[in-house]
Amino acid sequence: MNLFDVYPINNIAITKAKGSYVWDEEGQQYLDMYGGHAVISIGHTHPHYVQRVTEQLNKVGFYSNSIKMPLQEELAEKLGKISGKEDYQLFLCNSGAEANENAFKLASFYNNRKKIVAFKKSFHGRTSLAVAATDNPNIIAPVNENENIIFLPFNDEAALEACFKENGDQISSVIIEGIQGVGGINEASNSFLQKISSLCKKHNAIFIADSVQCGYGRSGKFFSHDYAGVDADIYTMAKGMGNGFPVAGIIIAPHLQPKHGMLGTTFGGNHLACAAALAVLEVIESENLMKNAETIGNYLMDELKKIPQLQNVRGKGLMIGFDVPDELKNLRKNLLFNQHIFTGEAKPNVIRLLPSLALRKKDADEFLESIMLELEAESIKLKA
Ligand SMILES: Cc1ncc(COP(=O)(O)O)c(C=O)c1O
Repeated sequence: MNLFDVYPINNIAITKAKGSYVWDEEGQQYLDMYGGHAVISIGHTHPHYVQRVTEQLNKVGFYSNSIKMPLQEELAEKLGKISGKEDYQLFLCNSGAEANENAFKLASFYNNRKKIVAFKKSFHGRTSLAVAATDNPNIIAPVNENENIIFLPFNDEAALEACFKENGDQISSVIIEGIQGVGGINEASNSFLQKISSLCKKHNAIFIADSVQCGYGRSGKFFSHDYAGVDADIYTMAKGMGNGFPVAGIIIAPHLQPKHGMLGTTFGGNHLACAAALAVLEVIESENLMKNAETIGNYLMDELKKIPQLQNVRGKGLMIGFDVPDELKNLRKNLLFNQHIFTGEAKPNVIRLLPSLALRKKDADEFLESIMLELEAESIKLKA
């Protein structure tokens, strides 16, 4: 049987990983500035994580949500404390798309409405409503087309006000990434997030903060939306939550009340997933990783801004993007194959950095030196 060929892949197989580094079959070491797509939050194969997951697997890996699960309660308690949202409620699932699906559904159950406001360049996942609310027609199959989604320009307060004026009694939810990831590292402005919050309150719509990529401490705060001083009604999260173990969730403000059978999942919140998620939070806390993300992120951004060939260096914490001019369009590939550094991209010309929150200054320096080497090599080629 062949694999269903949907991924444009690099011809590298990883066989070992530790901290911010991975190794291929030949033993070649790579610096991971991509974090396996923002997933590796506390570093690859962190010893506490490996121990907690292994110990749990030796006790019980899975049982269904039909029984009491103290690990879920422990996770909810810890997540409430570290995120500062102690009065919210936790529902666990398995992926970012699923988290967003559940958020939309819950919003619609709550206010009995159908319309969803999403923004240009957004990415919310590939399942039915999540993909319909994603601004990329190429990945929306005809069966996913949904007339209830309204796309508005990002950071445009006037357009949002006008939309609420016209459809206020029909809008179920507004979904926004605090920092757009796939869209190219675009930050929602504080005043835009505040405007969403106040309009949602006024019209009884639900404010969904998609924190799948920008959340879980990556920005230097637990949720990047926290920079605006707003409380969303639902936060969706996934990537960094399990450091690679597939675990996701939504946290839900107290005014949204549960009913038995309203949401559900087979795998979501199983014992092993909870152990992974708890290990991640324990390490974020004990190693002060949110502060580290802020400090190393600011350092990286300051240094990158000094490199004239790189344009529009932007982001928060360890979620950083910059534009690469056309003549340097091979930079990302060259970083991978010449310097052995993984980075992310956003089409057409953005390099995205999404490393582990435990990235050290010397790792950041290694990355900066490698960029300089590649830029020098490129400028010699251009002159020749
Ligand atoms: C902001 C955002 N939301 C949702 C998703 C979907 O997550 P998943 O791939 O886990 O379904 C992604 C994935 O890249 C994302 O970046």
